[in-house]
Amino acid sequence: MYGVINKSLRDMVIEQFGEPKWSEVLQRSGVPDDSFLAMQSYDDDVTYKLAQACADEMQIDLTDALRAFGVHWVENTVSKQYESLMRAAGSDMLGFLGNLNNLHDRISSTFLNYRPPAFEVGDRSGNEVEILYLSERVGLTPFVEGLLRGLADRFNQEMEIVDIVPQQVSQGEQTLFKVRMGQQ
Ligand code: HEM
Repeated sequence: MYGVINKSLRDMVIEQFGEPKWSEVLQRSGVPDDSFLAMQSYDDDVTYKLAQACADEMQIDLTDALRAFGVHWVENTVSKQYESLMRAAGSDMLGFLGNLNNLHDRISSTFLNYRPPAFEVGDRSGNEVEILYLSERVGLTPFVEGLLRGLADRFNQEMEIVDIVPQQVSQGEQTLFKVRMGQQ
C-alpha cells in the first residue's frame, strides 16, 4: 500500500505512545525504516507487518490495533491532510460513504495503480442501513470498523454497528456492516 498509510500508522503510535515505543514497533516488525514515503507504493506486507508489530508491542489483538488505526486515519490523517477532498465528498455520513468510491477514483491519478476498496450503501430510508465493503485484500474489516466509527464522530452521527457479516467470496474480502443510525 501507499506509504501514506504506513506513515499514518507510525504517526498514531508516536502521538499515542511516543518515539521510543515507535522504535520498538519498527524493530519488531523487521520493516525497513524507509517505508514511509507518502507517495510511494510498498508491498502490502509492509503494512500488515507494521500493524501486527503494533499489536504485539501493545499486547492487544490485531483486530483492536486495526480498529484504532481506522479511527486515527479519519480523525488525524485525512481530516488534516485531505480536508478539502473530504469536505467535497459530503456533509453527512451516509452521503459521504455513497461518494467514497468517487473520492478514491478522483485521486487515482495521484496514487498510480493503487487498489482502493469499494463501498455500497443500501437503502437509506430507514434507521438500519447496510454498508457493503469490498476489497481485493484480506484482513482489513476491523480497519473499516474503525473508519466507520471515525466517520460517525466526524459527522456527529450517532451510529451503532449492529452486525458484521462476512460474505463468501473466492478472492479478497467482502463484509456487510449493518448499522443503526441515530440522531445527527
Ligand atoms: C481524502 C481522503 C482519502 C485518501 C487520500 C485515501 C487514500 C487511500 C490510499 C492511498 C489507500 C491505499 C491503497 C493502495 O495503496 O493500494 C487507501 C486505502 C483504503 N481506503 Fe482510502 N483514502 C481516503 C479516505 C478514505 C476514507 C474516509 C475511508 C473510509 C471508509 C477510506 C477507506 C479505505 C480503506 C478501507 C482502504 C484499504 C484498502 C482495502 O480495503 O483494500 N479511505 N485509501
